[in-house]
Amino acid sequence: MGDGFRTIIEPFRIHAVEPMRMLDRGERQRKLAEADYNLFALHADDVLIDLLTDSGTGAMSSEQWAAVQRGNEAYAGAPSWFRFEAAVKELFPFRYVLPTHQGRAAERILFSAVSGPGRVIPNNTHFDTTRANIEATGAEAVDLVIPEGHQPRSEHPFKGNLDVAALERLLATRGDDVPLVMLTITNNSGGGQPVSLANARAVREVCDRYRKPLFLDACRFAENAWFITIREPGYAGVAVADIVRELASLADGMTMSAKKDPLANIGGWLAFNDERLAEQCRNLEILTEGFPTYGGLAGRDLEAIAVGLREAVDEDYLRYRVASVSYLGSALRRLGVPVVVPFGGHAIFIDARELLPHVPPLAYPGQALACALYLEGGVRSCEIGTVMFGRKPDGSEQPAPMDLVRLAVPRRTYTQSHIDYVIEVVERVAASAGDLTGMEITYQPERLRHFTARFRPLPAR
Ligand code: F0G
Repeated sequence: MGDGFRTIIEPFRIHAVEPMRMLDRGERQRKLAEADYNLFALHADDVLIDLLTDSGTGAMSSEQWAAVQRGNEAYAGAPSWFRFEAAVKELFPFRYVLPTHQGRAAERILFSAVSGPGRVIPNNTHFDTTRANIEATGAEAVDLVIPEGHQPRSEHPFKGNLDVAALERLLATRGDDVPLVMLTITNNSGGGQPVSLANARAVREVCDRYRKPLFLDACRFAENAWFITIREPGYAGVAVADIVRELASLADGMTMSAKKDPLANIGGWLAFNDERLAEQCRNLEILTEGFPTYGGLAGRDLEAIAVGLREAVDEDYLRYRVASVSYLGSALRRLGVPVVVPFGGHAIFIDARELLPHVPPLAYPGQALACALYLEGGVRSCEIGTVMFGRKPDGSEQPAPMDLVRLAVPRRTYTQSHIDYVIEVVERVAASAGDLTGMEITYQPERLRHFTARFRPLPAR
């Protein structure tokens, strides 16, 4: 799609449609109250534009649907498994691949094997499920993203990079407690920000010196690789698949959620080279996921992932993907809405702490903003801030480094006019942001509270 045109079009035609319905404001107000101001508790058909997550919510291609028909459901050794394994290894040539029903199952298996009380696992920024799976084993999850990663306004091109000096300090002081080092590409919790190949190499070098394995949390590997081609010196014009293989060659293993860049609605895997770890994880996998040639997935899911992986590294698709997300970000920035820059690959993150300076972090400005976006226009977003990360394992509460609201864009699902509508909704909410009040929590579970907590808006001052 060259020829010098400015407009980057969706590189697909619509093949099947799913109607959506518009509630009026009064109905949305009622639904929100019934959901106790937790957007996870809404019925999805009461949502107009659903930007809660880009996970499992994308549209599959006609080729993926065709592959679904080829799904073979043999319990062991299905041809669908071999096609899946080959597609994974084409991009991530690790010796052992264990399919799982989604990313967190891979995390649970991995950390059940290597983690435990007294252990510490560094990452640029752990995603919530990764952190929770580590903490559930009694270990500590440490975020070591570079300082720019916490500055919404910093234009650093690779804000997902891991602070190599901080990693070195951790390994020098607590090396014996560190079973592995992780790198999340792209760094979802930090704004969908990429990690550079130079940083991955530097992390590898430190891991080598301390003899630590390096694992990728590779959910958004294709978007990360695309950012490398457009931002990292020396990689312009290099094939995305080659960059992915280069990233994989620096690691000893990976966890994956196929619900993101692999363009599937469900699935994941765990992969590595270490034979002993493979044996241990295979045994754990059989306990909860199933036999290692299907791992909690139907053969048809394995087929959809195998095709999705090849489509994920298509450059027309990635150019459109990143352009359409940045279209949303640029429009919000022009309107003066504080957004995390540079724009991430899968989502635009609004800085709720800055938009709602009158709401302190412990009154959850991100939650207040997310509820307002739903009330105003039926747009569902997700708080990534003090609700998600503020509660510590000992039950105490602290402000998260940032209070963000994520507008995650499902892959190949919404058109530009849907996004134009979202921009208008945000514009209206931002215009009266000063009137929004904070929230208080009326119920919360011990872990991962954002999924099921209940809230109440604080009275206006
Ligand atoms: N790692 C990262 C970086 C993620 O973003 C996610 C999921 C996971 C691991 C877990 O994968 O959902 O398949 O179990 N992120 C979704 C999100 C839920 O909305 O960002 P999963």
